[in-house]
Amino acid sequence: MDIVARLGMRVPVIQAPMAGVATPALAAAVSNAGGLGSLGLAAMSPEQADEAMAETRRLTNFSFGVNLFCHQPLRRDSAAEARWLDRLAPYFARFDAAPPRMLENAYPSTLESDALLDRVLAAAPALVTFHFGLPRPEQIAALRRRGCLLGATATSLAEGERIREAGLDLIVAQGWQAGGHRGIFDPNAPDERLETLPLVELLVPLGLPVIAAGAIMDASDTRRALAAGAVAVQCGTGFLLAPEAAATPAHRKALARGKTVMTSAISGRPARCCINDFTAIPDAENPGYPVTYSAGKALNAAATAKAITGYGAQWAGTGCARAVARPAADTVATLAP
Ligand SMILES: Cc1cc2nc3c(=O)[nH]c(=O)nc-3n(C[C@H](O)[C@H](O)[C@H](O)COP(=O)(O)O)c2cc1C
Repeated sequence: MDIVARLGMRVPVIQAPMAGVATPALAAAVSNAGGLGSLGLAAMSPEQADEAMAETRRLTNFSFGVNLFCHQPLRRDSAAEARWLDRLAPYFARFDAAPPRMLENAYPSTLESDALLDRVLAAAPALVTFHFGLPRPEQIAALRRRGCLLGATATSLAEGERIREAGLDLIVAQGWQAGGHRGIFDPNAPDERLETLPLVELLVPLGLPVIAAGAIMDASDTRRALAAGAVAVQCGTGFLLAPEAAATPAHRKALARGKTVMTSAISGRPARCCINDFTAIPDAENPGYPVTYSAGKALNAAATAKAITGYGAQWAGTGCARAVARPAADTVATLAP
C-alpha cells in the first residue's frame, strides 16, 4: 500500500504542522475532509502536547501527524547574547521596556530532551515528522515499535540522503518559498535555496516518497508537484486564514500585504515571515536559535502591550497573498488535484 493510503488520506494534501498555529480543530478538520491534519508540538509543554493529541483524537477518527524539532543543541555564548540584547535595547525602549536580562532555551531539541517524544510514544500518532534535523537512532527505533510512520524535512539533496540513511519513510521537500522556519539541518552552512519543484525532482530519485512543501496554494500547484514526482503536498500558508487556525488577527492581516522575507532576527534560525517591523531589524550576529527567539518573544510582548503588532513571528510563504479565509475543509477541496 502506498504511503498516502497508509495514512488514510483520500486527498494527497497534508496540512503543515505549524507550531503555535495548528490547533486540534484545524488538524481534525483537515483529516475529516480527506487530507492529513498535523500538530506542531515543538512549542508545547508535554502536558499541552498530550492534551492536543487527545483533543485531535476526540475530533477525528482519521489519522493525523505530529512534528518535533531536532536542532543541534546551541552552544551558548553569553557575550554574543549580551551584544544582541544591547542591539535590541533601543527597540524595547520605544515601548518603555528593557530587554530581558537572561535569555532562555524555550525550545529544547528532541536531541536534548525526551519529554515531548515520550508523550508522542504514548499517543502513537500515524505520522511523526522532524524539522531541523534527525532524532537519534534509538528514538527512531522506539517510534517504530509504536507503529508510527516517520518523515523529516529536507531542503537539499544531502539532507534527503541523511533522511534515507536514517531509515525514515518519507521526505518533506521544503522549498525556498515555504513559510515558517526553514528546516535546514545546519543554519550556518551555505543554503542552496532550492525552490519546491526543483527540490522535489532532486529528491525523488532517492526512492522515498516525497511530499512537496512551499507555495502550494491551489489544485494546479498540487498537480505540478505531483507531476514533478511528489506523492502529496504539505501546505501551511494556505491554512493560516482558516477559522480553525490560531493565527493572530495581525498575522492574518499581514498576509494580505503579499510580501515575505527570510530572516533570522526573530528566532535565530532562518524563517520566512511577512514583512513587518521585526523583519526590518538586521539579523547578522544574533546569538542563535532558540535563545534569539526568547529575545524576539520578549520584544513582541513589549510591543503588543503598547498595541503595536508588527513585531510578531508572522510566518508565511511567498504564496501568502493567495491565502483565502474559508473553513479548512474547503481549502483541502481547493488543493485536491
Ligand atoms: C505559521 C507556520 C508555522 C510553521 N511551523 C512549523 C513547524 O512547527 N514544524 C514544521 O516542520 N514546519 C513548520 N512550518 C513549515 C511548514 O511545515 C511548511 O514547510 C510550509 O508551511 C510550506 O510552505 P507554505 O507555507 O508556502 O505552504 C510552519 C509554517 C508556517 C507558515
